[in-house]
Parts: sequence; C-alpha cells; structure tokens
Amino acid sequence: MYTVGLQSAADAFLLSSLQVQVFLALCILFVLLVFGLDSNKVDNGSQSPVFLPGSHLLAIAPFFQKRFEFLNDGFRKTGQALFQFNMLRDTVIVVSGEAGRKAFFTNRAFDLTEGFKVLSGAIPVVKGVTSDLQTRRVALIHKRLSASQRQEHLTQRIKPILDDCRRLMEAWEPTGTFDPFENIYELLFQTTVRSLASEDIANDAALVRRLKYLYDILDNGTTPATVLLPWLPAPSMLKKLWATKEIYGIVSRAVDNRVQSGEHRNDTLQMLVDAKDERLVMVGFIMGLLVAGARATGTAASWLITFLGNNAEWKVKATQEVDRLLAIYPPQNKTMSLSEQLSAIPLEAWETETPVLDAVIHETLRIAQPHTAMRRNLGPDTFIDSKLVPSGAYIVYPFSDVHLNPDIYPDPWKFDPSRGEAKVPFGYLGWGGGKTVCLGQRLARLELKLVTSMMLLGFRYSTVGVNGDLLDSPPRPNWNDALLCRPEKGSCFLHYEKSTPTL
Ligand code: HEM
Repeated sequence: MYTVGLQSAADAFLLSSLQVQVFLALCILFVLLVFGLDSNKVDNGSQSPVFLPGSHLLAIAPFFQKRFEFLNDGFRKTGQALFQFNMLRDTVIVVSGEAGRKAFFTNRAFDLTEGFKVLSGAIPVVKGVTSDLQTRRVALIHKRLSASQRQEHLTQRIKPILDDCRRLMEAWEPTGTFDPFENIYELLFQTTVRSLASEDIANDAALVRRLKYLYDILDNGTTPATVLLPWLPAPSMLKKLWATKEIYGIVSRAVDNRVQSGEHRNDTLQMLVDAKDERLVMVGFIMGLLVAGARATGTAASWLITFLGNNAEWKVKATQEVDRLLAIYPPQNKTMSLSEQLSAIPLEAWETETPVLDAVIHETLRIAQPHTAMRRNLGPDTFIDSKLVPSGAYIVYPFSDVHLNPDIYPDPWKFDPSRGEAKVPFGYLGWGGGKTVCLGQRLARLELKLVTSMMLLGFRYSTVGVNGDLLDSPPRPNWNDALLCRPEKGSCFLHYEKSTPTL
C-alpha cells in the first residue's frame, strides 16, 4: 500500500518527438500483444508454482483492473495455493494459505519498495524524490515519520485536525445527503495534509482541493499500460506525469518558501526543516506519505462511518464511548464548540480508553481494505510451501486470503466488531504483519477516531440508498477497486442532520 520508493518514469515526459515515440511504442505494443509473453516461461519442473493458463498481456490486464476477481480466478483455475504468471519479462508469484503468508511477511529478502515499484503504478514518480531512493533516504523518511508521531508532536495535531473537521463540516447544509466516499474522503485528505505537510498548504482550501484533484488523477489513471509500459506516451500516462509534476511543484514551493523565509510554524514540515534535511528528503516525505496516508485513512474512514450508519448497536456504543470521554475530561466552559470540547481529551485517552472505536476500526480494516501486498525477492532462490520463488521474482499476497476466509472469519462479509482475535498465525493484517507493519498507524488511528467522533456527536445520520430509504445491510466493499474499495457509485449515501448548535 505504501512505499516512498517508486518507479522511475518522469524523465520520459520530456523526451523528443511525440509522433516518433507513439509510432515506436505502438510497434512494440503490437509485437507484445501478438507474440505474447509466454516465451520466457521457465519451467523448473514440479518445484515451480503452476503457471496461470494464458499468461499473455491481455489475459493479465485484469490484475490491474479487477484484481480481486483475477486472483480468485487464478486460485480457482490452478487449484493451487501458489501460482505464477509473467508480466513482460518478470515472474509474478501469487501466494496464499498459512505457509504462504508466514513466508511472505517474514522473509527479510522480500522487499516492499521494489515490489511496489513495478506492480503498483498509482504513485507519484519523481526520480530521487519518491522513486529510486537510496535505502539511506528511505530509512531517514521512515525515521522522520516516526518522529512526527511522537507523543508531543501528535498531541499538537489534535486541535488542528478537529478544527479542519469543524470547518469542512460547517460547509455542509444543516441537513442533507452526501456520498461518504466523496465527503468523508475529502475530510481525511484535508486532515492528512494538515498532519503530514505544512500549515501553508493546509490553510489554503483551494490548494488542498487542487492537490486532491491531482492525486485523484494518479489514483484513477492506473491502467495496465501505465504500469507495464511506463514509457508509452498514452494519454493516461501523460496525464499522470503532468499531475506528478504539478504535485512536485506545489510541494517543493512550500518547502522552498519555508526554508527561504525562515518563518517558524508548528507543523511537520517545520520538523523536517529543523532537522536540516536535504530538500529532496523533505519533498519526498510529503509527496510519498501524503498519497499513502490520505488514500488509506480516507478509505477506512468512509467505510467506518458508512458501516456505523447502518448499525444502530455499534453506533450507540461508539457514541457513548466518546460521551464518556467528554465526561471524564470535561470542557473548561460549557459554551465550547464540539471540536473544542473534543480537543480537551488527551492523546493517551484517545489511544487507551476507546476499546469500542478500536474494535470498529479493526473490523473495518478487515472487510474494507482490498490490499494486495507486493514484494520482490532480492535474495537468493527460496521456497514457499515447497514451491520455488526464484531470485528477482515478484511475489504478491492478497489480504482477502485471510480477511475474507470463512474458516477464519465466519460469515466474512458481515460487519461485526465483536469478533475476537483470529486464532491463526498472521490471521489479521489490517496494519500489516511480520517485518512490514504500518509506520503511520498512530496518526491514522487518531485521525479516524477524531473524524468519527465529530460525525457521531455532531450529526444524526444513517446510511441510505439512492431513494433515501434505509439500507437493510451495508453496501459490500468492492475489492476490485484495489485502491479505494468504493461501492458502485450512487448505491449508498449518508442522510444526516446536524445535532449540535456549534461544531
Ligand atoms: C487507515 C489507514 C492506514 C492503513 C489501514 C494502513 C495499512 C498499512 C498496511 C497494511 C501496511 C503494510 C503493507 C504491506 O505489507 O504491503 C502499511 C505499511 C505502511 N504504511 Fe500504512 N496504513 C494506513 C495509514 C498510513 C499513514 C497515514 C501513513 C503515513 C503517514 C502510512 C505509512 C505507511 C508506511 C511508510 C508503510 C511501509 C512500511 C515499510 O516499508 O516497512 N500508513 N500500512
């Protein structure tokens, strides 16, 4: 889901004659499609995972467009826990089952950054800034991310995040209907910009809208061609390169202005400036983590609030939990707005006294996080479940293998936060597992709890269908939408009514 190391392609943007490029690219594409890619299949006998029948370019296109179906089909067609297919010259091995996930998440040679670089594609690519980073730079960015979530820094984010919620929610009509996958997502985009970038960007509503528009282009513009043939000047690729260049411009201007002006602000950029980080590290930190953070928290919050809107029992429990916190940490005066009252609750309480919100987040991530983890084997040949994973091969593990497995989670599509911990190794991967766990978890959990609390205490709301009728059951997360998991557009809305005089 996240990497700060991304693939290189931006250079291609500036290359020579477009007609020549298009002609050459189309010729190469034609050859690839007609002659297929099976020629480089290497059969290592029974040691090799079985090949997915028909691994040519067109047959594997659904890996990018309908990943959930593609992988399920692969397991069905091969009847195996591991199978492989070719992606141009690369071998991709899909693993499942207990042995598969244990090996996947514990093998030190399986590299996340390299896996993402080739198989993902929906990330802004700027060489040396967000892609092809030296290990040292990635480590530094991770170190800064961890510093940005230290107690004192995160404590200071609570009020600004709640202020953002208030400002955006006040712009809603006092009563109405909206698409949570638009409005709640937008809210989380704002709070994530606030938490990871700079005050100058976060305070400029038009600039935040522009950034979101640009990141949406990256999210929506991933096609098999943009990933497999990044040098092909197809319209979607050009649009992605343009969006990346614009994002780079916005972020680097914010960084340069801060450094040159010498102004001091209380934000994450200041932390990077004070640490005297290289310009490219600062820009890379913001560009790379914004996309990782906003997408994941936006998706999780949209679903969490949608699920609660359809589940009176857990909505009441969660509301009571936040009410109880307000009673324990009462506001200084009764005239305070809801966001000011919630700001008085200390970070420790949000982190340790909210078992209901924790259970709701846990269950939301199980059902509505359609992640396929990706790695590359940078070590020697190895074996998973007695099957060969050659050096250099890409390996993918779909979270559906565990999170939607009826043997581990009976009635797996049911939103039921009362489920206990899974009893099998690596039985829950909501925040990753083994050697790769989410490094933004502390911030993400806080954002989710603050936004949900504002929604629960600021509004009466329920999840409704297109006619405004209450839905019998929540919509089903669409795992084929590999980034955002949205249900079919227009199939579900929140009907709300403001329930507090001052947000
Ligand atoms: C609800 C929100 C989030 C969820 C559910 C989530 C989930 C995950 C998961 C499952 C992984 C492991 C991926 C894999 O194994 O392939 C991961 C890794 C990561 N996450 Fe998050 N994440 C969230 C928010 C964030 C935020 C806000 C940030 C940054 C501020 C962030 C930064 C990262 C990074 C840097 C990694 C890679 C760690 C590594 O390379 O070892 N995440 N996250």
